Amino acid sequence: NKIGVIFDLDGVIVDTAKYHFLAWKQLANHLGFEFTEAHNELLKGVSRVRSLEILLDIGKVSLSEEKKQEYLKSKNEHYLKYIMKMGPEEILPGANALLDKLDNLGIEYVLGSASKNAPLILKQVNLFERFSGIVDGNSVTKAKPDPEVFLIGAQKLNLKPEQCVVFEDAIAGVEAANKANMISIGIGDKNTLHEADFNFKSLTEIPHDFFTAVIPEKIM
Ligand code: BG6
Ligand code: MG
Repeated sequence: NKIGVIFDLDGVIVDTAKYHFLAWKQLANHLGFEFTEAHNELLKGVSRVRSLEILLDIGKVSLSEEKKQEYLKSKNEHYLKYIMKMGPEEILPGANALLDKLDNLGIEYVLGSASKNAPLILKQVNLFERFSGIVDGNSVTKAKPDPEVFLIGAQKLNLKPEQCVVFEDAIAGVEAANKANMISIGIGDKNTLHEADFNFKSLTEIPHDFFTAVIPEKIM
C-alpha cells in the first residue's frame, strides 16, 4: 500500500512565525495597538489576507479596501527582509533527517503551504529541489481549513487522500488534513493540536518505524 507525505512549511520545516510576528507587530503598533505572541498564534496556517482581518479585529480597527491592500504589501515587504537573510541553518531540527529517511524508503513528498512566499523560502534554505511538487498560496483558491491545498497535493503525488500523511503545526492545517480524509500529524503542542491523528513535539520525535509499521497499519 503506497503512501505519500505532504508537508506544511511554516512551523514544520522552518520557523518563520517569528518573522511574521515581527512584521505584523510593527503594523499593529503603527495602527496604535499592541500585538502579542498569543495573538500571533491565531495567524498560524491562516492566509495573508485573513491574517490582516484577524489583526484588525484585535485592534478594533476598520480600514478601506485600498488601505488594506497597502498594508498587505508593506507587511510582506517587511517580512521578506527577514526571509532574504534565511539560510539552511534555519531548517527545524529533524526535518533534514526525515526527508533523508523518506528518500531512502522511496516515499514521495510534496509541500502544502498557505504561503505565497513558499518557493522563495524553500530556495533560501536549499530545499526547493527536494520536493516532488509544491502547492502554495499561489495555487489555491480556498485557504486552510479548507482541504483544497492538500487535495491538490494528493493529485501531485498521484495518490488517494487516504494514502497521504500530512505534517502540520497549525489548528487550521490539521482541520484541513482531517477534512481531506488524510492522516494528520500535529507537530507542536498536543493540547492545541488535539484533533490530529498523531502528535509529536518536533520532527525529531517521530519513531523509527513510523512509515514502515505505524502508518501502514493505520491505513489498512
Ligand atoms: C502560513 C503561515 O504558512 O502562511 C501564516 O502559517 C501565513 O502565518 C500564511 O499568514 C501566508 O503566508 P504569506 O507568506 O503568503 O504571507
Ligand atoms: Mg504552519
